[in-house]
Amino acid sequence: MTEPDSPVTTLPLRRSKPRKPVLGMVLSILAGSLLGACSGQVPPPSAAPASEETPNASIEYANWETTEPGAYDDYNLRANLLQRGHKVYLKYCVGCHGEYGDGAGVAAVRLITKPRDFTQGIYKFRSTDSGSLPLEQDLYRTITRGLSRVSMPAFPLMPENEKLAVIEYIKTFYPRWEEEKDDRRIVAIPQPPEDLVDDHRQLRGRVVYLQMGCSSCHGFDGRGAGATRTEYTDSWGNPQKPFDFTRGSLKGGNAPEDIYRTFHTGLRSIMPSFGGDTLAAVTADGLAAVTANIEAMEAAELEGVLEDFPADGNSVFGEMGESQRQELAERNSWDLVSYILALRTPTTTAAAVLGVEKSRG
Ligand code: HEC
Ligand code: HEC
Repeated sequence: MTEPDSPVTTLPLRRSKPRKPVLGMVLSILAGSLLGACSGQVPPPSAAPASEETPNASIEYANWETTEPGAYDDYNLRANLLQRGHKVYLKYCVGCHGEYGDGAGVAAVRLITKPRDFTQGIYKFRSTDSGSLPLEQDLYRTITRGLSRVSMPAFPLMPENEKLAVIEYIKTFYPRWEEEKDDRRIVAIPQPPEDLVDDHRQLRGRVVYLQMGCSSCHGFDGRGAGATRTEYTDSWGNPQKPFDFTRGSLKGGNAPEDIYRTFHTGLRSIMPSFGGDTLAAVTADGLAAVTANIEAMEAAELEGVLEDFPADGNSVFGEMGESQRQELAERNSWDLVSYILALRTPTTTAAAVLGVEKSRG
């Protein structure tokens, strides 16, 4: 925030603190050429600033200096975009995410959930699998909607061109973005079923929830009771608590698709991902192992939906075909979404607490 409104004259691609002041650099070049002039020699190449210290060296257009004049256009467009992104960043983001994108902005010390450190390329809210970088549209969604329950603000009114520019800019904090972006694997999200809100589905979702071990972190009641794990340190070394499903808005969004996405992709480092066949592995056999911890009355209720599930592990992974297993995993996923939505009773969601629900209904 040192020079918020002054025009940006160099490319804003500094990824680490500058080692040498520019003035020193200029003087050393001058001194070099003076010396060269005195002794009648051309200054040695080492007198020139190291190429990584020239302002635009970190742009990935390796051969831009030697390409045809017309081909400069792309380079100029990108440079302009990044300059605009830098300005947006200095105006709205630097106070939390820091000048170097490492999450060490001046406000960070006061925040319990720390601002993201962009230099490591680790993101929570992705539509890609847990080892991948997010898509640009994921960053777009996060910036537009913000993240509930933490300090990350929403910027719904930010002009489109500023949003795209700041996204391009924050990507540059992670030097391997361009290299790794082609390896991103998107996690497909199917259409939610029409009967998502359905008692039978919710009951089956409860079975899925218990067998998948969601309860070990989120509790048997979805608000933490009986959870065996309660405290975490995330990838960035900060403490984090599992979400209480009965209150408040979800960070990744409240729509059924958002919840589906969250447990399929995981939230990198704390909340695991449940991808592939994992969610097919819910069986009548497996429920016995988890009902020991719930009340007899509830256990009896869950018995009622058991005939909808395969008998045991062998019927899922031995007898069942690939596509049938995939279908089952998808059904179980939507059942789980249905159950989680049911936990979010109308009187405990953020909207209800803020009185939004009433005016809508
Ligand atoms: C008041 C502080 C604050 C400001 C201002 C702020 N952020 Fe954040 N931001 C956060 C916090 C805190 C998190 C981490 C949330 C978490 O881990 O749950 C975050 C996370 C993010 C993430 C990562 C989401 C993910 O998937 O992991 C992105 C992207 C992001 N911010 C972009 C921006 C941009 C762009 C701006 C400026 C337009 C901005 N933020 C301004 C506090 C802030
Ligand atoms: C190892 C512990 C752990 C397990 C197991 C776990 N979660 Fe989580 N979950 C977390 C933590 C921690 C958070 C909070 C992350 C945050 O706020 O950044 C979370 C958050 C969530 C959220 C809210 C995300 C948001 O947008 O705010 C959902 C939905 C969720 N979990 C679903 C599930 C489901 C469904 C399962 C089982 C299939 C599950 N979780 C299993 C630890 C866990």
